[in-house]
Amino acid sequence: MDHFLYRDGVLHAEDVPVAEIAAAVGTPFYLYSTATLERHYRLFDEALEGLDHLVCYAMKAASNQAILRTLARLGAGMDVVSGGEYLRAKAAGVPGSKIVFSGIGKTAHEMELALLGGIRQFNIESEPEMEVLSAVAVKLGKVAPITVRVNPDVDAKTHAKIATGKSENKFGIPISRAQSVYAHAGSLPGLEVIGIDVHIGSQLTDLEPFRQAYRKVSDLTEALRAEGHDIRRLDLGGGLGIPYAQTNEAPPLPSAYGAMIREELGHLGCEIEIEPGRLIAGNAGIMVSKVIYVKSGEGRDFLILDGAMNDLIRPAMYDAWHDIVPLVQPAAGVAQRPYDIVGPVCESGDTFAKQRMMPPLNAGDLVAFRSAGAYGAVMSSEYNTRPMIPEVMVNGHEFAVIRARPSFDEMINRDTIPEWL
Ligand code: LLP
Repeated sequence: MDHFLYRDGVLHAEDVPVAEIAAAVGTPFYLYSTATLERHYRLFDEALEGLDHLVCYAMKAASNQAILRTLARLGAGMDVVSGGEYLRAKAAGVPGSKIVFSGIGKTAHEMELALLGGIRQFNIESEPEMEVLSAVAVKLGKVAPITVRVNPDVDAKTHAKIATGKSENKFGIPISRAQSVYAHAGSLPGLEVIGIDVHIGSQLTDLEPFRQAYRKVSDLTEALRAEGHDIRRLDLGGGLGIPYAQTNEAPPLPSAYGAMIREELGHLGCEIEIEPGRLIAGNAGIMVSKVIYVKSGEGRDFLILDGAMNDLIRPAMYDAWHDIVPLVQPAAGVAQRPYDIVGPVCESGDTFAKQRMMPPLNAGDLVAFRSAGAYGAVMSSEYNTRPMIPEVMVNGHEFAVIRARPSFDEMINRDTIPEWL
């Protein structure tokens, strides 16, 4: 559920007509709903009620500090995957004690940042990484709390580019080798082994792969405890999917996910962490864009928008579907027609949808891409020297620009011409 609804025939974000925001900030732009972000965080928090738990928002999904602070105010922790994300979370006011550091390629410098600034735990992904972290911690006179990310070799049944839990993926250590890797970790002076981490992929629409992975984690917890490791925290990753097409997909709800966690892992008495990104931010954001031209091609019509693949890359990269709706609700019974919906970037991949049935649209009309809050703004670029589009947040009747559109001068002046030119 989200808070982008038609009221009196015009799309609103909470209590604000989206077209009003478009008039104030210009198109294209991203727009987030505070109420939706808060609702989604609470769904997870409530799903784990009764278990000692922390919901660590995977901020890679949408990392604007206004989003982070909205969630942190409710008690959320953060899952970060780079030194930049770590510092951004801190800048948003998240204490280090609620930040977990994931990722397969943490550098010594990033480890140092987090050890000095405070960190809940590092999720370690390889033995070389473990050795570097131990050395950095010893140098700083610290002890780094760690989990090891295990790869349970489970098929997440999601898009190949976002599946992470099969043995051929680059993530984690094979679960079959976990005992020897934990023994190694336990022998390193700068580390304190506190738990196990697992994340099998993103946009999962079925609980079964999670269940299989968590069963393996449960068995491993018992095996490691028997070997003397004090396994007291389980980080279960993110990955629960969202409905992209409002019509026909119904991924499991956080409450069902929480119940399954309780069933599979509740008896272990561990603190539970989860790292949801998409489910918190995805349907809490839309991208608003304007029709620049309607062009008739050979047997097809193109809607050429002012938004492009550099602003929202998911359709080009993952063949992702985003519902695209006009800001003015079409009259009941209006005949729909197929359009290819494209951006202005100079490649055919800059296509958001092919032969999408839409009500008739004209130049100047505004449309919203739904479910664009996660992996939208954060994956945007300045390809074709197009400015990164602004981010705006709504809260009830008010709205604020939370990242401004750069001017062309700001973008161009970032280049420096070497002296010899
Ligand atoms: N934890 C770890 C270790 C992750 O790698 C990820 C996502 C998450 C948590 C959050 O997963 P979520 O709850 O958002 O599914 N750009 C792609 C998605 C990449 C996901 C990467 N890892 C997309 O647009 O679909």
